[in-house]
Amino acid sequence: MNLVTASEEYNFTSFSNLPFYTKVNERLLDLAEVGKQRKIVDLGCGTGGITKLILERLQSAKDTVIYAVDHSTTALKAAAEEIGDRKDVAVNYVHSEVQNLTGAVKDKVDAVVYCNSIHYVPNKTELVDQIKDKLLPGGIFAFNTSFYEGSHPDDSLLFFRKWMMRSLRILKRDYGMTADKSAKVESRVQLKADDYIALVENAGFKVLVNDLNRVEVPHEGWHHISGFSDWIEGVMPGVPLDVGREALQKGLAQIWDEMNLKTIPRVWLSVSAAKA
Ligand SMILES: C[S@@+](CC[C@H](N)C(=O)[O-])C[C@H]1O[C@@H](n2cnc3c(N)ncnc32)[C@H](O)[C@@H]1O
Repeated sequence: MNLVTASEEYNFTSFSNLPFYTKVNERLLDLAEVGKQRKIVDLGCGTGGITKLILERLQSAKDTVIYAVDHSTTALKAAAEEIGDRKDVAVNYVHSEVQNLTGAVKDKVDAVVYCNSIHYVPNKTELVDQIKDKLLPGGIFAFNTSFYEGSHPDDSLLFFRKWMMRSLRILKRDYGMTADKSAKVESRVQLKADDYIALVENAGFKVLVNDLNRVEVPHEGWHHISGFSDWIEGVMPGVPLDVGREALQKGLAQIWDEMNLKTIPRVWLSVSAAKA
């Protein structure tokens, strides 16, 4: 198994601390009523931003157990530092691929929360089956993503086209490099929102929340996401991270000014589904 050590410099922390992003995730947790359960898995927990939001919502911290699962050791370490020592609630940091959920978390749980990560997994059917097995009857599976076909509203497309073209031009002109499309990760092939709903329904879940929420993403959102390794590898495959980040951030600054932008919209999908 290839467990990942993410470079600290290119992690998700600066993006995940932005207020607009916190609101997006709070919306999922509140729609799914996360907080009343006793045993909760935070899948793909990253540096602990969602774990913190779950902790804030606990109706009774006593006897609550949270399993925070990620394959990045640096992300887990940052999460543990961020959350600190909590005497009243057990937070277990689990170093594992999400695809090994069955073996990684032995307990049956009341909720599995999976924020902004489901799009990474190539075999989603297999993972959703594991999540269902992991849940107690009545347990909920709550996830959100902004990586699906349709997450870019029409009025954001011109910005994206211009941003990518400009950044690729900067990459070539200033660094003498081009992106290698053949290096694009297969798992980034995107489903439609309806495909995600069908995925959970076909696994036998009852969908309780199916929410499409248009979010106005500010400049700093696009700026910080340009420093996240997964984003750089997705839009500039094969390009060294430091160079990709610089080209994307330079291109962004230029296009943002030229188009006189305040925000660019993106649509987040939030789903909550119950195990019968
Ligand atoms: C975009 S971040 C999301 C973090 C957090 N859930 C949030 O919503 O802010 C994705 C996280 O998923 C983790 N990840 C991606 N693929 C994974 C896999 N196959 N197994 C375990 N963790 C994975 C990455 O290490 C990263 O921490």
